[in-house]
Amino acid sequence: MNRRKIVAGNWKMNTDLHEALSLASAIRDNSKSITGVEKIIFPPFTFLSALNEVTKDEKSLAIGGQNCSEHEKGAYTGETAASMLRSVGCEYVLVGHSERRTYFSETSAQLISKIKIALQNNLKIIFCFGEQLSERKSNKHFETVKLQLEEVLTSFPKEEILNLVLAYEPVWAIGTGETATPEQAQEMHAFIRKTLTGIFSKEIADQMPILYGGSCNAQNARDLFACPDVDGGLIGGASLKAEDFCIIMKSFS
Ligand code: PGA
Repeated sequence: MNRRKIVAGNWKMNTDLHEALSLASAIRDNSKSITGVEKIIFPPFTFLSALNEVTKDEKSLAIGGQNCSEHEKGAYTGETAASMLRSVGCEYVLVGHSERRTYFSETSAQLISKIKIALQNNLKIIFCFGEQLSERKSNKHFETVKLQLEEVLTSFPKEEILNLVLAYEPVWAIGTGETATPEQAQEMHAFIRKTLTGIFSKEIADQMPILYGGSCNAQNARDLFACPDVDGGLIGGASLKAEDFCIIMKSFS
């Protein structure tokens, strides 16, 4: 199956304006010749507008917001609306990252609202999910992931679902340097595809890109991306170095 290949960089709460501009320019310039892979960066909100100017002529390099509000607009001090992201050139938004779930207690109901509003504003969504270490240790990782998917994805019709990209990010692998093995990633991604077949159809499951995230870097990306059900990566730490991020983009066999 020839699915879209995607490498996305989640900068989290890193960089200042000067660093963000030079990192985005370096990524744009170094990745120009890399074809056949969709490239996305998720910088902090404050720099999106400036970075849109840097990336807008490079069609294969998109920008996205790391989060959006579950509300359309109004009196929600400190929040950022999906429409605002769209108006500064974002094509994507990240929803459900484990740091949002853990530190900001985001629930599946809120994630559904965020995705709905993002879709209304013509944004594509990278929907993140994954099990905690305790869940893997107690052999509940499949159950957890199935529930995370079912709780959110069943709210969306088949016609809309391919505006989403999935990112499986085991929480124990995020920022820890401990990556899932290619076998663990493949086993879970195949399970996710089976779950998608159950919720939607085999046709949709076969088309949906599923990214791996969690300590994916320039050294291990090739082995992970070689797995038949791994369609790319959501990269944190290693996306802050243009050279490493571009090596990851070239790690598809
Ligand atoms: P990491 O982060 O690559 O630094 O582990 C991945 C993520 O949180 O998306």
